[in-house]
Amino acid sequence: MANETSTIKVPQSIIEISAFVPEARNDPHTPLKALRGACPVMRDEMAKTWLLTRYDDVRGLVNDRGHVRLPSKAEEGSLPRRLVDDENDHSRTSILFLDEPDHARIRQPLAKAFYARINRMKPDIEAIIDGTIAAAPDTGSFDLMEAVAVPIPVLVIARILGVDERMLADFRQWSEDVILGLNPVRTEEETARLASGAQALDAYFTELMSARRIQPRDDLISDMVTLQASGEADITDDELILNLQALLVGGNLTTTDLIGNGVWLFLTHPDQLAALKDNPGLGAQAVEEVLRYEAPVSATSRILAEDQSVAGCPMKAHQAVFCSLASANRDEGTFDAADRFDITVKRASHVAFGGGPHICIGAPLARIEARRVYQKLFERYPDMRLVEQEIVWRALPFFRGIEQLDVAV
Ligand code: HEM
Repeated sequence: MANETSTIKVPQSIIEISAFVPEARNDPHTPLKALRGACPVMRDEMAKTWLLTRYDDVRGLVNDRGHVRLPSKAEEGSLPRRLVDDENDHSRTSILFLDEPDHARIRQPLAKAFYARINRMKPDIEAIIDGTIAAAPDTGSFDLMEAVAVPIPVLVIARILGVDERMLADFRQWSEDVILGLNPVRTEEETARLASGAQALDAYFTELMSARRIQPRDDLISDMVTLQASGEADITDDELILNLQALLVGGNLTTTDLIGNGVWLFLTHPDQLAALKDNPGLGAQAVEEVLRYEAPVSATSRILAEDQSVAGCPMKAHQAVFCSLASANRDEGTFDAADRFDITVKRASHVAFGGGPHICIGAPLARIEARRVYQKLFERYPDMRLVEQEIVWRALPFFRGIEQLDVAV
């Protein structure tokens, strides 16, 4: 038989592998495999962007400290440039798009305080997860996303930050509005939602920070305003607001999708679910395999600070380079039987959280949440199965998650 990829059309543009195209939304892995084989370093002139799809090239790019992130440094017309419009203050960004030395100045104290909180609050985090799963229906069928995958991450991050839990519905809405900022081709209506969500969050965090300065509580907002006041964290109020919001927004949809994608994978791979049940010690490895196999964030990017060769190709300063994390994680050159979901083998480390200085700050939290959810969910519902349904994948570019997952218990 001819090489499988030789019969598949090789994508010519980033749009062809994005969630905008129904075929790629349903199955991004087939066109990505074709690209990896035929054109692993692709130039998309329409999007004015390079795209890397091989594991080694992606790893090399994200780990290289010489590249930058601030979208305004990218060439005119490129995808990252389209994330910001000219009326925006380009320098007002969270650590996600910030460059050194500001990135490290903010990220270091924030990460230290955040990780200390996660460690201290692990029992609270587990109690939120257990409580949410216990409150899901006892019998019949229900949408796993609505009952479990959506509420858990927002409840957890709200508790860590110290947000009033009566505000959770607003919170979730604002965070969904703000995530539209990562869609480079958003509509005018979506841009308006993005602006109003950001405004509401700014106002709420400003109020919360003032309240905690007067009366600190046992939460991350109090930790950060205290570090700021003592001079240990050299961070302005505006930077604090933006970065606390980044924790809220960055951790919601992504962790929801890690939970949803994982449950879907286990229910469609009963042998793997049986392996997990037989050996709960595989829990951590199972989370890594879900992250590798269906990464909730499918791409990240860097901007070149100078003319240089990347992945063997000459590139120019200010050019944007996207890397497909979804593709790198299925690279047959790195992972044996890369298209097999297998929690029982120890594999090379995936790139689902990116890498280098910008590696996901929330990775330890996402791992704790997903591991506990898989364990408790399959304990509570040993006979859980999928209801007959068409799986609808999210249409948000660069994210991979399921809209609704109906299960019977
Ligand atoms: C499964 C869940 C998650 C996935 C797949 C994910 C994925 C990613 C990826 C790919 C990046 C970019 C890394 C790079 O360019 O090298 C990133 C950055 C980031 N993530 Fe996550 N994330 C997840 C959960 C979280 C959580 C729980 C939080 C916060 C509570 C969070 C907050 C952030 C922030 C603030 C950044 C920017 C870090 C920086 O640029 O220094 N993420 N994440």
